[in-house]
Amino acid sequence: MLAVLVALLMATRGAAQTQPSLKEVFKKDFLVGAALNYPQILGLDGRGDSLVRQQFNAITPENCLKWESVHPRPETYSFEVPDKYVAFGEKNGMAIIGHTLVWHHQTPRWVFDSANGKPVDREILLRRMHDHIATVVGRYKGRIKGWDVVNEAVDEDGSLRQSPWLKIIGEDFIVKAFQFAHEADPNAELYYNDYSLENAPKRKGALALVKKLQESGVHVAAVGLQGHYKLVWPSPAQVETTITAFAALGVKVVVTELDIDVVPASQGNEGADLLLNNKDMRRADFYAAGLPDSMQQVLARRYTGLFAVFVRNAEAVDRVTFWGVGDGNSWLNSGGRVNYPLLFDRKYQPKPAFDAVLKTGMK
Ligand code: GLA
Repeated sequence: MLAVLVALLMATRGAAQTQPSLKEVFKKDFLVGAALNYPQILGLDGRGDSLVRQQFNAITPENCLKWESVHPRPETYSFEVPDKYVAFGEKNGMAIIGHTLVWHHQTPRWVFDSANGKPVDREILLRRMHDHIATVVGRYKGRIKGWDVVNEAVDEDGSLRQSPWLKIIGEDFIVKAFQFAHEADPNAELYYNDYSLENAPKRKGALALVKKLQESGVHVAAVGLQGHYKLVWPSPAQVETTITAFAALGVKVVVTELDIDVVPASQGNEGADLLLNNKDMRRADFYAAGLPDSMQQVLARRYTGLFAVFVRNAEAVDRVTFWGVGDGNSWLNSGGRVNYPLLFDRKYQPKPAFDAVLKTGMK
């Protein structure tokens, strides 16, 4: 089997159109998606777009459906780019995901403030939330398969984050957001999306939140694990525990923003020993000259460990979406980092991690 696979991979190297694809290999398991940036949505990145068509069957917009982009001023909605995003997905028969309706970031100040600069009251903010959701979700009713309704409402310790949404509306802002989204498109899947749910205290808070939503009669189709991972955090076992815990509540799991930060300086405590020993490793551009082969292999093994968990839990996992198409697109290049978090390089060529991931689906 392995020999056949290796022969297949070698034979198709360089022949883009016959290269095995993520969407084919994982067809029986889950959808495989990518987040699209503006050039990809606007048709200004032909190579990026053809790779997306060849490899993925689900898309998420990196930015164009966030509040500040789609609804920058009180009476102004900007649907030009989102319309193109949805058209791209429809033309290519992809699952089209909406991201994101209610979040504390990338949301303009005016949403929370009144004309005198003081915070608005609960009723006004609920009305603004309602109108935003009704307008945006309503516009793509029946076309967008599922929405990240609320993003990042839980804190590290499991309590609800002290966001303007919580402070002004109160705890039920989450139930309300789901109800408004359901009214706007009763057939859309609705997700709660967050990062670091692999850490026990935060996971506990999110599990309690999902239970509460269910008790309020809200249908949560899936919990989104963002999947902004590092080389050693979280362990595959932590990821598996997390998937199992949410599945036990009867919700699906979607991995919504997968990438793996490889820059030593951004590894946090786990890398502390290394950093002490080698001060060059504290530089954000430590890998500016390229990712060495040895690290390509480390990344490939890391992806293998994660995908083994996703495949083993395919009954619970509905989708795995990468946060970007190629390494050059990734937000993890911010702050001077030169990063290599995805399966395709800056020229959209497959990396060893791509082959490693495919293998997990061919077993
Ligand atoms: C969060 C959001 C994404 C994106 C990333 C990093 O995970 O959900 O939309 O902004 O942060 O940029």
